[in-house]
Amino acid sequence: MAKAKRPVFIFGNWKMHKTIDAAVQFVKDLIPLVENSSPQIYLAVPFTAIKPVSEEAKESNIVIGAQNMNDASEGAFTGEIAGEMLKNAGAKFVILGHSERRHLFNEDNALINRKVKRAIEDGLQPVVCVGETLEEREEGKTDAVLEEQLSMSLEGLTKEQMGDVIVAYEPVWAIGTGKRPVVEDIEKAHTFCREVLAKKWTKGVANGTPILYGGSVKPENAKELLKPADVDGLLVGGASLESEIFAKIVNYQTEK
Ligand code: PGA
Repeated sequence: MAKAKRPVFIFGNWKMHKTIDAAVQFVKDLIPLVENSSPQIYLAVPFTAIKPVSEEAKESNIVIGAQNMNDASEGAFTGEIAGEMLKNAGAKFVILGHSERRHLFNEDNALINRKVKRAIEDGLQPVVCVGETLEEREEGKTDAVLEEQLSMSLEGLTKEQMGDVIVAYEPVWAIGTGKRPVVEDIEKAHTFCREVLAKKWTKGVANGTPILYGGSVKPENAKELLKPADVDGLLVGGASLESEIFAKIVNYQTEK
């Protein structure tokens, strides 16, 4: 099936990796490898690297963002970071509700919803992650989990605000494991997410929302994963840590 008119997005999520020096070097190395590439390239970097890496990437086609933020605008929250601070450091987007945040740091849909609203208020594009655990999949609950996570995490957003949102479908059991659903199941999940968005808002909102796939993406599977019409991009963890490997994913069309 032909792709909709949405652009293709390739996101890297470095998680808790890279010092400032390593981060800047990565971007220096990546720029020439992707300067003529057609996908939109986004890198979610550690907080400390946002400013130096944004400066390094200023004249390039690489967009820099963060991996998390607090839901408050400021206050006595030791160790937390506000959206305004991220924006001020050069971040353009923020990943919210990543499964590591949901499962290791007990973030629930209500908190993620508050973060999404705060991010939009602060001028950051929210990338909202949803996905089922292996147990939920085996119990046939994938659709129910996706519907609940999407609906609650995006609750109360206007159609206009939805225009800023990117959704990422990341089956929890596929993250960092080398395992992933077959492409048909990924396609089903993406189509289902789009139906949920259409039901909650409008078809126009659903069709305008990019839906990324994440979980064990590699240069070898990028092309296949991007085939279904409803897969608009990839969110890459482990394979985004080396510039050459990440560039191969960005350049999936010309790689073998
Ligand atoms: P992975 O991580 O590519 O290492 O599986 C994906 C993610 O956590 O976004």
